Amino acid sequence: LNEFIELANGVKIPKIGFGTWQIENGDEAYQSVTNALKNGYIHIDSANGYGNEASVGQAIKDSKIPRDQIFVTSKLPSHIKNYEEAKKSFEETLNNFGFDYVDLYLIHAPWPWSNIGSKHDQGNVEAWKAMEEYYKAGKIRAIGVSNFSPSDIQNIIDHCEIVPLVNQIGFWIGRDQEDTLDYCKKHNILVEAYSPLATGKILKNPTIVEISKKYKVTPAQLCIRYCLEKDTIPLPKSTHEDRIIQNSQVNFKISQEDLKVLENLKTN
Ligand code: A2P
Repeated sequence: LNEFIELANGVKIPKIGFGTWQIENGDEAYQSVTNALKNGYIHIDSANGYGNEASVGQAIKDSKIPRDQIFVTSKLPSHIKNYEEAKKSFEETLNNFGFDYVDLYLIHAPWPWSNIGSKHDQGNVEAWKAMEEYYKAGKIRAIGVSNFSPSDIQNIIDHCEIVPLVNQIGFWIGRDQEDTLDYCKKHNILVEAYSPLATGKILKNPTIVEISKKYKVTPAQLCIRYCLEKDTIPLPKSTHEDRIIQNSQVNFKISQEDLKVLENLKTN
C-alpha cells in the first residue's frame, strides 16, 4: 500500500487503490472508505457518477490523515462532452469532496453510458481542454481517461497539448486488453485496473482457485497480484473490513509459468 509508481509527469501514485464504484453514498461509502484508510490504503478511486464523492470526502477529512498523504481520483461524467459543462462538473466535484484539488481526474468514458460505442471525438477534445486548464492551474495533479481505446486516446494526442497520464480500464484475469496495454505502454500512459476481481465473478474459477492455493493466498489476492504483475494499478473494492485488509496483502510473486497460464485463461 505504501509503494508508488511515477506517472510521466513525476506525480507518484500508490500502487493499489481502493475502488468505490457501486458503494452507495452515505453510510456505506463513508464506512468503507473509513475502513480502507484505517487499514493503510492511501489511494481512493471515486467518480462524480458514483454519487458518493461527498461521503468519500467526509471520510477522508474525518480520518485526520493530511490531505497531501492521500491520493484521490474522480471522473468527469461520461455524458459531458463540452468545455463549459466540463468546467462546471469539475467545480461540483471539488465542492462535493470539500477539497481544493484532486490528485487524478479522468474522463469517465469516451461515450455516454446511454450510448456505448458512439463517437464523440470533438466532445472529448473539448472536455480535455477544460481539464488541461485546471491541471495547469494546479487544481488537478494528473489528468487521464477511462475506458478509452487506443484510437480514442490517439484523438486526444492528435488534437490536444497534454498526453493522458492514465487510462483506467476494466481488467482482470481472462479479460483480453493486450492492445490497450501495449498502446499505453508505448505512450507512457499508466493503466489502472478497475474490477480486478471481475466484480467477484472469477473467484470460483477452478484454475484461479488451484493456483492461489499453491501460493497460500485467496483467489482475490491472486487476482489483485496478477494486475500488479501486468504493471497495472488494481482498484479492488469491498464493503467488508476483513476483505479490505486481505486485498491489500499481496506481497508475493507469481512465477512466469503461472503468469502464462493466467494470461491464457478464459474466464468470460
Ligand atoms: P463485498 O463488498 O461484499 O466484499 P471488483 O473489485 O472486481 O469490482 O469486485 C468487487 C466485488 O467482489 C464485491 O462484490 C465484493 O463484495 C467482492 N469482494 C471484494 N473483495 C473480496 C474478497 N477478498 N473475497 C471475496 N469477495 C470479495
